[in-house]
Amino acid sequence: MNARQLKAFWNIWRQDGDGDGEPRLPRHVAIIMDGNGRWAKKHKLNVSRGHRQGTETLREIIRHTDDLGIEALSLYAFSTENWSRPAEEVAALMQLILDFFASEIDELCEKNVRILILGDKSALPAKQRETLIEAEQRTAGNTGLHLNIGVNYGSRAELVRATAEIARMVRDGEMQPEEITEQTISDHLYTRGQPDVDLLIRTSGEMRLSNFLLYQNAYAEFIFPEVLWPDFTVAEYDRCLAAFGRRDRRYGGRDSTAENGADQGGEGT
Ligand code: FPP
Repeated sequence: MNARQLKAFWNIWRQDGDGDGEPRLPRHVAIIMDGNGRWAKKHKLNVSRGHRQGTETLREIIRHTDDLGIEALSLYAFSTENWSRPAEEVAALMQLILDFFASEIDELCEKNVRILILGDKSALPAKQRETLIEAEQRTAGNTGLHLNIGVNYGSRAELVRATAEIARMVRDGEMQPEEITEQTISDHLYTRGQPDVDLLIRTSGEMRLSNFLLYQNAYAEFIFPEVLWPDFTVAEYDRCLAAFGRRDRRYGGRDSTAENGADQGGEGT
């Protein structure tokens, strides 16, 4: 463990309550990076500057996630609905995608990070499509952090795509309908082979999923910090991770402190 990693652990550990053993970290964190527009407005800047500042936050959060040894990080960069924003803003976001990969790809590669784009790349401008495909290909053999970036992503579209793939398999006799399980569906999502989301963070105080990883978030813990994404710091992230460590995850069962759950009113969710 290097000094940065040690510091990262310590910051969470001292906040996570019981203080014994290593902090209980999520295996998969998903983040809806919300509030760039409001940040820009607050600073009397163009919305594109807000997105640019948000990209700085993104870099720090990716680094920290990697330092902590978390298995997967999913970021919602551009939804299928974001095309309806003003053309200038869409163009700025598309440019940021190019800039981000130009500046980060070498370091990500060096850190053994695997990049996966969630979403339909075919509808993207050629330059962005090629950059994203290249990033995926360059890092495909890596074995470290799964870095999933939603670009032209919508969870319902992902589920439609998975359903069509499974339907084709049934039609071609590769599978019987009664053989379809929850795992079959997981195996046809972009995130196949990765753990479900354990912790979902959405910044800026908004409390919505906005069509992000609906299936994968089934048992995620949700945390909604008030802070706008460009102001979200590593310290704030540590607070979210420590809060996650204190949550009692029951997956529909009983409180883990209850004896056989005998006298606990109601079933956990
Ligand atoms: C939501 O804020 C944020 C987005 C729609 C884009 C997020 C993108 C980035 C942080 C950078 C681009 C990503 C990469 C991978 C380079 P909002 O504009 O909806 O905020 P508002 O609700 O305050 O208006």
